[in-house]
Amino acid sequence: MPGVVIVGAQWGERATTIVRFQGGNNAGHTIVRDGEEFKFHLIPSGILHEDKTCVIGNGVVVDPRVLLGEIDNLKRAGIGVNNLRLSANAHLIMPYHVLLDTAGETKLGKLSIGTTRRGIGPCYADKALRLGIRVQDLLDEKILRTKIRAALEPKQQALRELSVQRRKQLKEAGEEAKAAEGGAGVPDPRLDLHAMVEEHVNFGHRLEPHIADTARLCWDALEGEETVIFEGAQATLLDLDHGTYPFVTSSNPIAGAACVGAGVGPKDIDEVWGIAKAYATRVGAGPFPTELFDDIGEQMLQRGHEFGTTTGRRRRCGWMDLVALRYAVRLNRMDALAITKLDVLSGIGPLRLAVRYRSKEGAVLDTFPYHQSILHSATPEYEEVPGFDLDLTSCRQASDLPQEARDYLAFIADFVGVPVRLVGVGPDREQVIWLDS
Ligand code: IMP
Repeated sequence: MPGVVIVGAQWGERATTIVRFQGGNNAGHTIVRDGEEFKFHLIPSGILHEDKTCVIGNGVVVDPRVLLGEIDNLKRAGIGVNNLRLSANAHLIMPYHVLLDTAGETKLGKLSIGTTRRGIGPCYADKALRLGIRVQDLLDEKILRTKIRAALEPKQQALRELSVQRRKQLKEAGEEAKAAEGGAGVPDPRLDLHAMVEEHVNFGHRLEPHIADTARLCWDALEGEETVIFEGAQATLLDLDHGTYPFVTSSNPIAGAACVGAGVGPKDIDEVWGIAKAYATRVGAGPFPTELFDDIGEQMLQRGHEFGTTTGRRRRCGWMDLVALRYAVRLNRMDALAITKLDVLSGIGPLRLAVRYRSKEGAVLDTFPYHQSILHSATPEYEEVPGFDLDLTSCRQASDLPQEARDYLAFIADFVGVPVRLVGVGPDREQVIWLDS
């Protein structure tokens, strides 16, 4: 009955059931299968195998338009979705969540997190406020109407204020035409209660075949000796509790959250894997000690195609940060690591890995500082190791890798205390190397 949690990114080969447990369509990953590219935001990529059950768990926030769009795309590509299950308890991202997220981000003078503007934060906020709309509500028009009305009521005012403020800013910036769009107090058509209920009842009809008691489905699979993979989205340093708050997402991407977000117990988890790139990236604002602003950073960006799958934004790139990675290994209690995109580092020259930070006052920091201000001003100290020039994209086993690449991986494993078991050398599913260590 192995239950395996994978945090940090996406992957899932030997499992029969793949379960997403948090986040929403802020996540995004690209899978290349036989040269064909698939982009996913909500549906686990296991859907490409018709014999796997793919679950969107209760901890995920689901934008029904996005989910139906992904279902339609898969169907168009000839891929069946009969094996997709959606938790009846998952919360829905509603149009007002998206508006509030966007409005909040454009509000000048406010701390900008650089969210994906997909409504993630406002949706989780409503969940905590007990004003959320759940998947199961789509199946009962009366309840749906009552709940949407209740959820909208306290937001009308906020949305109006935000729109007035936005118009004022646009006018001040000389953008009169944009400012004139939609007068103050005129309700946004996207917020019309009647239309919204009607649209969502329709979504409910379309999603009904997939709606299920997904916790029970996980229990059955685990008790039936199947391997269940619990797939995290985002990554540890974006964790609402343990990441670089407030520059984080609004859920818990760490392994511990798999139990809550899927409905299983801690004893159901047998293994935890972490996925990290061979270098570091970050989208959005927030501290990033090893960030590079030079040619090497640009090379990582270009060669690694480091543009967000969801928003297309440039990812900030930098050297591997082993202080942060060791923190993530412990926080998730990882058993093993998968290091992806090692091929991107070839030809870069000597490689650097951050092994400690130094505070502004000169103190040596061997562990990830809990105080955000210290992290903001910390400078990394690096270990430099030889790089490699060989193109790794056709390597398929450890012995194909140059010694320098193997040493780089060994350095990471030694430092963080868990083995690197899998290495990615390109975007295709075949471009992986299993290591024995
Ligand atoms: P939100 O999740 O849209 O609220 O965005 C909060 C922060 O998390 C922003 O810095 C985003 O760029 C970042 N973020 C959210 N989802 C992902 C992801 O899947 N990968 C990388 N960064 C993400």
